[in-house]
Amino acid sequence: MEWLWWLLASWAGPFSIYPAKRGVFPQELEAIPMFMKRCPAEIDAARQPDLACLQSLLFDEEQEPAELAKMYKNEGNEYFREKDYGRAVVSYSEGLKKKCEDAELNAVLHTNRGAAHFHLGNYRSALNDAIQAKKLKPTHLKAIIRGALCHMELKNFSEAIAWCEEGLRIDSKEKKLVEMRAKADKLKRAAERDARKAKVIEKKEQGQKETLLAAIKERNIKLVLEPSNEEEDISDGLAEISLDGFHSHNATGAKVHLDADGNLNWPVLFLYPEHEQTDFIEAFHENSRFIDHLTVMFAELPPWDLERKYLPGNLEMQGNPSAPFNLCRYFVKAGTPTVLAFVKRSPFSKKYFTGRKVHRLRR
Ligand SMILES: *[C@@H]1O[C@H](CO)[C@@H](O)[C@H](O)[C@H]1NC(C)=O
Ligand SMILES: *[C@@H]1O[C@H](CO)[C@@H](O)[C@H](O)[C@H]1NC(C)=O
Repeated sequence: MEWLWWLLASWAGPFSIYPAKRGVFPQELEAIPMFMKRCPAEIDAARQPDLACLQSLLFDEEQEPAELAKMYKNEGNEYFREKDYGRAVVSYSEGLKKKCEDAELNAVLHTNRGAAHFHLGNYRSALNDAIQAKKLKPTHLKAIIRGALCHMELKNFSEAIAWCEEGLRIDSKEKKLVEMRAKADKLKRAAERDARKAKVIEKKEQGQKETLLAAIKERNIKLVLEPSNEEEDISDGLAEISLDGFHSHNATGAKVHLDADGNLNWPVLFLYPEHEQTDFIEAFHENSRFIDHLTVMFAELPPWDLERKYLPGNLEMQGNPSAPFNLCRYFVKAGTPTVLAFVKRSPFSKKYFTGRKVHRLRR
């Protein structure tokens, strides 16, 4: 770009303010087109009339499209050298907008814009430019190398190899392409190996999930996907239910699982509505009973039980706590059975169990 400003500044000689100035300081020199080291990004016509004049000369719409495209290319190259890739993209785009007939020049504009996009991390855009450049000039090695690099960044190693090979057919000794092809080959194999491993794991997990769902179905346990107030029976659709959507009430992420002996272990949430307190059992073995857990949980009075009423023998709940844990009478919401426990004959209990069957704990 510099030379162009120089040239135009010379042309504009008679209008230049330079000859009229005496004893200018280096700083001020910079404001004079002829001594400018860089093209200012925005030209203020009022403050820099010479520059505005040059600018209009430079990008005069009456010039040939190819001439203009070339000027924008040079401007873009200047920005590129300054690592101002954003502005370089804009300049090259302006050049392409001129739609000149020079395929070679357009190929260079695309290649250079692709390189600028690449530096900005816009690998898709960079690839599109490389593709366009290659279309315009199939032997343009620079565009082919850029395209291969984009495929590497986009982790499409098969495509990277194809582009490398295309380039190597033009120049079989091109070092960048030889190296890139070897690297792409290695990464492709590694990616394929990882994909195979992931598939095996996925298959195994799928199998485990199916076994688990079959075990739940076998026990006639009704699953409800999301917690809701309505107890809708969707056991018929069990086959379609996956456990993916299931989450635990507790952030520990506990999920129902089959143990080595083929027994189900459930996360179970105990609610004590009277005190708005909860207990959470991560793995409630299906052969254990509520009472077993209550006995452990209430072996000592909880700190919130100031009235000292929550004694294992003094609690009642829905379902017989002394019978084996049998979920087929419940609706299991969001993968976590939830049970309510109350102090026997407390007002809370009466309110909740009105019209429901109550099981009192007996020890
Ligand atoms: C690589 O690109 C090709 C062509 O666009 C596409 O068909 C293929 O699916 C891509 N592969 C990967 C792994 O993204
Ligand atoms: C989850 O359960 C643990 C005990 O198992 C408890 O300490 C924690 O506070 C619970 N977290 C939530 C969000 O309920």
